[in-house]
Amino acid sequence: MKFALIALALVALLVPAKADAVAEIASPGKVLAVQVRIDGEGKASYSVSRGGHTVIAPSALGFLLTDQPQLKRNFAFAGADTASHDDTWEQPWGEWRFIRNRYNELRIHLKEKIAPARRLDVVFRVYDDGVGFRYEFPEQVVLKNVHIAEEVTEFDVADPAEAWWEVGGDWNSYEQLYQHTRLDAVSQAHTPLTIKTDGGVYIAIHEAALVDYAGMWLKRIDGQRLRSVLSPSAQHAAKVVRTAPFTSPWRTLIIADSAAGLYMSHLELNLNEPNALGDVSWVRPYKYVGIWWAMHLTNWTWASGPHHGATTEHTKQYIDFAAANGFKEVLVEGWNYSWDDDWFANGHSLSYTQPYPDFDIKALAAYGKAKGVKIIGHHETFGKVDNYEAQLSGALDLLAGLGYDSIKTGYVADEGGLTVLGEDGKLSYEYHDGQALAVHHLKVVTEAAKRHIAVVDHEPIKDTGLRRTYPNWVSREGARGQEYNAWGNPPNPPNHESLLVFTRMLAGPFDFTPGVLSLTGKGGQKIQNTVAHQLADYIVIYSPVQMAADLPENYVKYPGPFQFIKDVPTDWSETRVLSGEPGEFAVMARKDRNSNNWYLGAVGDNTKRRVAVKLDFLDNKHHWVAETYLDAKDADWDSNPHAINIARRAVTPGETLTLNLARGGGAAIRFVAK
Ligand code: NOJ
Ligand code: CA
Repeated sequence: MKFALIALALVALLVPAKADAVAEIASPGKVLAVQVRIDGEGKASYSVSRGGHTVIAPSALGFLLTDQPQLKRNFAFAGADTASHDDTWEQPWGEWRFIRNRYNELRIHLKEKIAPARRLDVVFRVYDDGVGFRYEFPEQVVLKNVHIAEEVTEFDVADPAEAWWEVGGDWNSYEQLYQHTRLDAVSQAHTPLTIKTDGGVYIAIHEAALVDYAGMWLKRIDGQRLRSVLSPSAQHAAKVVRTAPFTSPWRTLIIADSAAGLYMSHLELNLNEPNALGDVSWVRPYKYVGIWWAMHLTNWTWASGPHHGATTEHTKQYIDFAAANGFKEVLVEGWNYSWDDDWFANGHSLSYTQPYPDFDIKALAAYGKAKGVKIIGHHETFGKVDNYEAQLSGALDLLAGLGYDSIKTGYVADEGGLTVLGEDGKLSYEYHDGQALAVHHLKVVTEAAKRHIAVVDHEPIKDTGLRRTYPNWVSREGARGQEYNAWGNPPNPPNHESLLVFTRMLAGPFDFTPGVLSLTGKGGQKIQNTVAHQLADYIVIYSPVQMAADLPENYVKYPGPFQFIKDVPTDWSETRVLSGEPGEFAVMARKDRNSNNWYLGAVGDNTKRRVAVKLDFLDNKHHWVAETYLDAKDADWDSNPHAINIARRAVTPGETLTLNLARGGGAAIRFVAK
């Protein structure tokens, strides 16, 4: 008790605790504050205020366990510790080179008042632009093996709000269309969940450092109260099985007064552990082309046969095209046995070491090497994680031996349809973001790192910022990518990217595969973008590895816009979101990490819109020439999608440009420093 009082006094140094709060802590700039309360039943809760106004009303903390009483009532406050932190770290690659990590920390010790008197810590890190908190299960005899039935963390959004969200736990690998509703109409959401209060406060709820734990969905309980629902496990009755001591992932809340402010936060990266891989100079951002879009158009097949895409001849053509146009890598899908079976039913027959006979893996690696082009290995698993893990070492050794430095993995499977081999030797059927998959993905990433291979995963587990700790985990999918524009039914809507910027992109890089200049999907159907929009995607949808997804012959057909794709870098020292609203528009400027040049991208929605852009990000030390790729006056995704004005002119820092975005339109600009 004495300890508790001393600790409380320490907290009081930062902010005097409110009458009913056991502890309170403010962010370094006193923008945000977190209060922790324990009620008469011993239930602990937290709340968050911004400038003294409640943003998150008192919200529950705790757990249900499968083999012990619930861990969410009868708590007593057993003390608190505080700490402050302020440093700046460097990203090996990314949207920003330097990232400041400045927060105040409050650690709350909880102890049950009744036997067995279990202990649980909750740690809050409070930044000026957000809050992260996690549970820490200390080592204790009475709770050593922890079997979590459910985490019951709540987020009770105080003010009336609207939300942009994607359903959580549904069948389609997080490739559903986003919904825009009132917050009190959300059912169960995936994260990041983006919220805007009627008073204009923007909130994004997500998680950081999802390691050996189940991913979190958010279920609306009543009103605007959301509660965590962990992704299930089929291996155990419990959703998470761990041995104490361990920590949960961070539960994160970015809180800003603009949508741009959400994107500009570094909360998630800061809450991850620093680089665990040491020298990662072998992880290189790049642009790539690939034997890919032709399959999605159904011109070629992944399976063997007369239309097989991954042939030696095709791959040589792509390597030649890459070398001639400055692309560093070529993705080849469908190179390995056996895509001929039913993907969902027979994925267990896939081999990761046996190429189809018309794909000469050795000769192609040598051919690429001579031309300075690498091949990206493709490991589609069809969700048969057991089959992939059984072959993982051999598969990675094969590629490393051939000089490959990247793999794209894939987990095409319905939710609850991924097969994993349990410790008991039995197969279980799992979700994409269950604990078993969290463990699997890190296994692939760390095994790949040992061989200096970078990983891009499709149908992935959600991104929680682990690229900071494992910088070879360079990109992933985890939302509707360009592939939907090939398939249709329906294609991505014109506002898809302006929605993604403020939702999915808050999580991290997206291998969206932009650059389809033909603007045509399967059977000639229209992509709902203008050409300038496809170019702007390279700026607004960040990934350190960016594809030029279209067929080479289409790039030959459209050399004007193709020049932007050739010029645009994929590694940045600085990023600014200049303006935007979720699902309406987004304007971003990024500075090349390897030159003084800046790039701007703007995407809109299904209306014509005019956006003013002040060029105050350009410095006064240089003369600036803008190479502009803008929707022509009569451009329109439906009636005139290829109408683009490409021009060059001198601009001055501080000048204001007016961008006229067409329906489904965009703008892309390269600012060259002279
Ligand atoms: C879905 C992926 O998103 C896509 O990029 C890939 O081509 C197919 N699966 C086949 O693996
Ligand atoms: Ca996909």
